[in-house]
Amino acid sequence: MTTIEREAPEAVVKLPPGPPLPRAVQGLLALADRRIALQIMRRRYGSAFTIDLPIFGQMVVISDPNHIRQLFKAAPHMADTSDANLGRVMGPNSMFALTGDRHRARRKLLTPSFNGRRLAAYEAIIEREAVDEFATWPHDQTFAAMPSMMRITLNVILRAVFGAEGQEFDRLREILPPGIRLGSKLALIPVPQWDWGRWSPWGRFYQYRREYDAIVDRLIDKAQADPRLAERDDVLALMLQSRYGDGSPMTHAEIGDELITMLAAGHETTATTLAWAVERLQRHPQLLTRLVADLDAGSEELLNATIFEILRTRPVIDTTFRQVQSPTLQIGPWTVPEGHTIVASIGLLHADEAVFRDARRFDPDRFLSRRPDPAEWIPYGGGVRRCIGAAFATMEIRIVLRTLLRDYTISPSNARGEGWQSRGVAIAPSRGARLRVRRR
Ligand code: HEM
Repeated sequence: MTTIEREAPEAVVKLPPGPPLPRAVQGLLALADRRIALQIMRRRYGSAFTIDLPIFGQMVVISDPNHIRQLFKAAPHMADTSDANLGRVMGPNSMFALTGDRHRARRKLLTPSFNGRRLAAYEAIIEREAVDEFATWPHDQTFAAMPSMMRITLNVILRAVFGAEGQEFDRLREILPPGIRLGSKLALIPVPQWDWGRWSPWGRFYQYRREYDAIVDRLIDKAQADPRLAERDDVLALMLQSRYGDGSPMTHAEIGDELITMLAAGHETTATTLAWAVERLQRHPQLLTRLVADLDAGSEELLNATIFEILRTRPVIDTTFRQVQSPTLQIGPWTVPEGHTIVASIGLLHADEAVFRDARRFDPDRFLSRRPDPAEWIPYGGGVRRCIGAAFATMEIRIVLRTLLRDYTISPSNARGEGWQSRGVAIAPSRGARLRVRRR
């Protein structure tokens, strides 16, 4: 095992060891199964290693909680987003594309949308969407719950974030899921230098985007004409009324890019987490019985601990990235040069036996007496780029599961746990979270 060292002007670059395989082979391994490839490297090289991938080049993967904390604490001029492609897909005004002061100003503007009072206002929307969707479920028959979870979380974001109803709601429901699916694939490849026309993937993507922009313009016009705008709770209404430090409002382009960013970041992630929740619960009948009893008695303590454990054992985003912006960045014993990407592996950290005792076990009780340590439990990332929708997502998961367990009995299952399948944005249960329920 050799450590990679070379001279940089400011310090000796010192990267952790990694597989001596050609870049193309490492790329193929990552394509075949990124999760398993990372687990194998973790066993072989320890908590930090260097991989070399086509398009991305050398990347340092870390999973020690102290190293990840160091990365998340690094100021943006030392380490910042490396999601330039994602930003190109969501638009130049998307939070994913913004860096430094512009990113900070945008976060400051949008954070109030997700504070306690606003979140409480979204609870009723979520419960109604869950009740309506569950009413379509077959009685005592096995079906895949994933599509239902996708519908619930899409409808919730369109109502609570976009403030959409009527025609705009219906059309956004149709065009956004395929548009975002296409966009998340395009985010992985460079933008072509030439125009391949309207039937090329980029051409189709721009078609979606044009229609999307026209709908958002209509939503903005309607909101601005709404005499009750100041009383509205949706994020679009808040964006229209908010002002930067210099008193200027958000532009329509900024609002459009930010709405689609929240949808892309928040729709499938929350739905896949909900799908994992039902996949896990039916395989733990004793927990199910305790949960129902606890909720019936008016306590959400066990439910909250269960949600923490679902997010620990099934993190639907299993890695997050930063790019080194300073000449070098020190992470533990490693000195990483400018331009290198550092991957914080959420999946490896959450599965680390040195961090969580009996880490492979699904055991919500571990979070009953103590809340997760923010350095060890990072399903929403960390630092200045920590998921802005974390509280919203956790609340949505809580309301949907509470409604489900209140109105339905989940049949226990002794089938093998479902595998992990990447859907582009998030990692989902491979068979769509097969489920069987009866009305209580
Ligand atoms: C279970 C559901 C969710 C999970 C697991 C999740 C996870 C994440 C993760 C890991 C990041 C990257 C953080 C980092 O790099 O440190 C992130 C960023 C982000 N998330 Fe979420 N997320 C979820 C739901 C949501 C929701 C509901 C919204 C909005 C309504 C949202 C909006 C965002 C945005 C805008 C960012 C970019 C933040 C920035 O760059 O400043 N997410 N999320």
